[in-house]
Amino acid sequence: MGEKIITLISQESIEKRIAELAKQIAADYDGKNLFIICGLKGAFIFASDLMKLLPAETEIGFMGVSSYGKGMKSSAQMELVLDLQDSIEDRHVLLVEDIADTGRSISFFKKQLAGRGYASLKLCTLLDKPDARVVEDVLPDYIGFSIENKFVVGYGLDFAQKYRGLPYVGYLTFDD
Ligand code: IMP
Ligand code: MG
Repeated sequence: MGEKIITLISQESIEKRIAELAKQIAADYDGKNLFIICGLKGAFIFASDLMKLLPAETEIGFMGVSSYGKGMKSSAQMELVLDLQDSIEDRHVLLVEDIADTGRSISFFKKQLAGRGYASLKLCTLLDKPDARVVEDVLPDYIGFSIENKFVVGYGLDFAQKYRGLPYVGYLTFDD
């Protein structure tokens, strides 16, 4: 069975959109020291490209949650695979994610962060699949691209851990 990837969002479009997001975020947090939480693994490329365009004082930490396993379906079973090593007390936190699908991962992240004393918490996701949402209170503050409810890979997103390094986002199709 051959896997094929059909480009959905080009490298150029992603770069352009990230520059816009960074501009907006920098303006919104003007004078506030921002702490990014990068959701692993999927958001590492997005968070890194975004951070390069944010004020130099911006800090980053990493948190890993696992839900998908090897398949294309999100599971309700959520596991914290890596906890944040930093205190976020009194910090302005921006949770950066690759994609808001069912919303379970983001909701799980938020629960994990509750009670840690942050000054504010906002959510930034590169991709949003609003039609796939199961958890209702997941409303991203910053969205790169809103997409159809189809499985995508690239730019951090994987299928069975593959394709994360693609510099663009594409649909994964199978021809047999
Ligand atoms: P959610 O918990 O269902 O919102 O899913 C969030 C996580 O599932 C993301 O951080 C991704 O790792 C993964 N995911 C969701 N949709 C896709 C997709 O279309 N392609 C690849 N991974 C996805
Ligand atoms: Mg994944």
